[in-house]
Amino acid sequence: MPTKPLIDAGTIARRVAELGRAITEDYPGQALVVVPVLKGSYMFAADLVRHIDLDVAIDFLGVRSYGNQQESSGVVQITTDLSHSIEGKHVILVEDIVDTGLTVAYLHQNLATRQPASLKVASLLHKPSRTRVPVRIDYLGFTVDDVFIVGYGLDFAQKFRNLPYLAVVTDDEA
Ligand code: IMP
Ligand code: MG
Repeated sequence: MPTKPLIDAGTIARRVAELGRAITEDYPGQALVVVPVLKGSYMFAADLVRHIDLDVAIDFLGVRSYGNQQESSGVVQITTDLSHSIEGKHVILVEDIVDTGLTVAYLHQNLATRQPASLKVASLLHKPSRTRVPVRIDYLGFTVDDVFIVGYGLDFAQKFRNLPYLAVVTDDEA
């Protein structure tokens, strides 16, 4: 499957640093729980937390979304749950990409029932043209068109997560 570069590593790094600074300013003197959604957001989250100058705990959520490779069905199952309670904590859910919005909508609703002090969403990417459920993204990296993105943690059939930049999967031969 050929790929075409879309957003280079330097541009990603600058944007992620900006998001980290914004988060730092929004929670002065507070402790945060950063919750990356596995696996796609692992690289974004790893870089983001290095730009958050606060008391930060990390806890992971693993999800399985039923549907085919490129299409979300909206039925989301939590396969790995948080290891600690988030009751009374300030939580930031970290996603790689908000596509239809179904995954984040489900996870937001699920985490909200656990009574965190606050709950916000950070997403590296957003595809607004595909929205089925509107979700609030408090910290957004980049808006993208309706194309399939890989790299910097995002996969196509588990491949390309290790690309240090964001790319588009193309149908072209060669
Ligand atoms: P949603 O539930 O439709 O918003 O889809 C969210 C999930 O689908 C993301 O967390 C990704 O794992 C996956 N996804 C959606 N679009 C893309 C893409 O362009 N590249 C890689 N994964 C994607
Ligand atoms: Mg994925």
